[in-house]
Parts: sequence; structure tokens; C-alpha cells
Amino acid sequence: MRTYLVTGGAGFIGSNYVLQLLQKDAEVLVLNVDKLTYAGNLENLRAIEGDKRHVFVQADICDPVRIAELFASYDIDYVVNFAAESHVDRSISDPQIFTQTNVLGTVNLLQCAREAWQVVGSAASADDRYRPGVRYLQVSTDEVYGSLGPEGFFTEQTPLDPHSPYAASKAAADLFVKAFGDTYRLPVNITRCSNNYGPFQFPEKLIPLMLNNALHHQALPVYGDGMQVRDWLYVEDHCKAIDLVLEGGVPGEVYNIGGHNERTNIQIVKGILSYVGEKVDRSVDERLIEHVTDRKGHDRRYGIDPTKIGEALGWRPQTAFEDGIVRTIQWYLDNQDWVAGVTSGAYRDYYKRMYGAR
Ligand SMILES: NC(=O)c1ccc[n+]([C@@H]2O[C@H](COP(=O)([O-])OP(=O)(O)OC[C@H]3O[C@@H](n4cnc5c(N)ncnc54)[C@H](O)[C@@H]3O)[C@@H](O)[C@H]2O)c1
Repeated sequence: MRTYLVTGGAGFIGSNYVLQLLQKDAEVLVLNVDKLTYAGNLENLRAIEGDKRHVFVQADICDPVRIAELFASYDIDYVVNFAAESHVDRSISDPQIFTQTNVLGTVNLLQCAREAWQVVGSAASADDRYRPGVRYLQVSTDEVYGSLGPEGFFTEQTPLDPHSPYAASKAAADLFVKAFGDTYRLPVNITRCSNNYGPFQFPEKLIPLMLNNALHHQALPVYGDGMQVRDWLYVEDHCKAIDLVLEGGVPGEVYNIGGHNERTNIQIVKGILSYVGEKVDRSVDERLIEHVTDRKGHDRRYGIDPTKIGEALGWRPQTAFEDGIVRTIQWYLDNQDWVAGVTSGAYRDYYKRMYGAR
């Protein structure tokens, strides 16, 4: 049986990952460490309530004592670090918490893993210093590469050139992961993915935000001309890629994960409006679009070249954007209670109701 330490597993991608893992693998133990910031929502994990293979721990990845205790209490095989401050706009107004969680939190996890996994007194080769089979995987982003012109793609060789404080914090974390691999031979991987979409995404991000506004007849604020290009990846496809890297990735390697689904933001917004106008409310249309002042330092285009993970590990995105976006919009329409809980803040009471007595 494998034991996973998944951090940020109450967030958007982390919760999808935990749900997928438990569905796929009967013989698994998942320690889900999440601080439950505004972005953490235990309601995402309702489907696995009471499942003994899932242990939720409310803790900060920056806390050396709590994290070391977990390593001491369980034989952790894999660390998958999703925990992060993840919203670019917030990083522009408050960069410090991004440094704290994204950089220092990552270094703390690396250090705890290194100490716990080290085989004491091993005199063998450098590669034998750790318990066999262990792996640390850092979930990173294409934003560390900066911005592309109209042509070309990010490969794993593209130099890091982050622009926003968020991207800078993720790039800094990546460099620490690399350093722990290079210096201490810790078995690490970094995955860098493009924009994810799917169920359980906090409605401050483009797709759920625009959908929610459309449903409530509120203006849809589009940055600048809306011609920024993002490469959309269905969250389930991303989670599958992470598992492939954990199982078969070469230690020390970086793997780019992208959906081959480049779309401008305005295309996404218009697509949402047209779906809502057709299926939900005929009065909803493009008149709701409101162009607002562009985000500072807004990157123009991201595009991932996922050739390496395809050739090395056989990963391909399985979800065409046309299917994934309909599934996603329909999920939000079918789960309006979840959306209402998040937008009203009621989701924060869920933890108290579920875990308040502990
Ligand atoms: N969403 C995307 O499109 C995208 C794209 C590329 C990379 N990523 C990366 O994937 C990861 C997950 O992104 P997401 O969209 O699911 O983020 P999210 O904001 O939805 O979730 C982040 C989770 O981390 C938790 N967290 C925050 N600070 C913590 C701390 N100090 N200790 C423990 N837990 C903490 C939050 O409570 C939340 O549950 C992040 O590392 C992000 O940088 C996301």
C-alpha cells in the first residue's frame, strides 16, 4: 500500500486529485494536509466522507513541527505539493503571503521529506541515500516561463522568466526543488501545467467567475481586449499526468503538461455566454461583457509543448476542450448549492460542523 502526502487537497486541483486517487486505487492511504485558506473547501471532498483511506489534517505546509510529525507517524512514499496561494491578482496586491506559502512552504516540505526519507548510515552511492520508491512532486505552472509571442511553445528548456509575484514565487519554489535534487539527490520531479478547468474551482478564476456572473445577470469583467491566450487543460487529465510522473518519471526531471487547447479569454467568455443563453436563460448575451483595465504585467500568451511527457510516459490529454467545457459548465449548473456555499462564505462553516468537536 502506498501512502501519499497530498498538500492543498481541499483546493481545486488537489481535491480532484484526491478523489481520483481514491477511486482508482483501493490500496492507498492519503494524508491530505491543507491549511484551509479562503481557497480550501472541504465540501469538495464530501464524496469521500468517512473513507478510512483519507485522513484530513488541517495544517500549514510552512509548519516544520506538524509536517515532521506526519513524516514520523506515517511511512510516506509520495509527496504531491499542490498547496499554494494561486491567484495572480491577489499576488499583485499582497506578494508576501505568496513568498511565505509558495516558497518557504515548499522548502519546509522538501527539508522534512529529506530528513524522513534519508537512510541513516548508508555508505552506498549517492542515489541510495533515500528509502527506495519515495518521490517528491512539485505542482508548478507554465507561468514560470513568462509570456510567448504569437508563435512557439514552452518546452522544459525554456528559461524561467516569471512576471507576476505569483509566477515568481512558483519559479523560486521550482529552483529549490531542483536544488534539493541536485545537492541532496532527493528524488524530485516538477510538473508545469497550463490553465486547469473543471469542477470545484473557486469562483474567482475565469470560467466559474464568468459563469456565475452570467447566471446572476452581472457584468462579465474582461481584462483589456480579452485577447490573452491560455492553454486549457481539463483537471482530470492533469491529475492523470501527475500519477504517471510519480510512477515513471525520471528523478530530477521537469515535465510540461498542456492540453493543446489554446483559446483567448474573450472566446471563453463568449462561449460561456452562448451556452447560458441557449440552455438556461435566453436573456443572457454578450451585452454583459465589460472590458476593464488590463491586469498589470498581464502575460499575453501561454502555450505548452507536452511532447516530453507524451513520449516518455505515454500521456495525452484525453478531453477535447469542446467536451470538457460543456461538462464543466454543466457541473456548476448542477451544483449551484456548492457555488452558493462558496460565494456566501458558508463553506467555511462546513469544517466546524464536520470537525468542530475535534
Ligand atoms: N489552477 C490552475 O489552473 C493551475 C495552473 C498551473 C498550476 N497550478 C498550481 O496547482 C496547485 C493547485 O492549484 P489550485 O488551482 O488547485 O489552487 P487553489 O487555490 O484552488 O488551492 C490551493 C489549496 O492550498 C491550500 N493552502 C494554501 N496555503 C496553504 C498552506 N500554507 N498550507 C497548507 N495548505 C495551504 C488552500 O487552502 C487550498 O486548499 C498550485 O500549486 C498552483 O500553483 C494551478
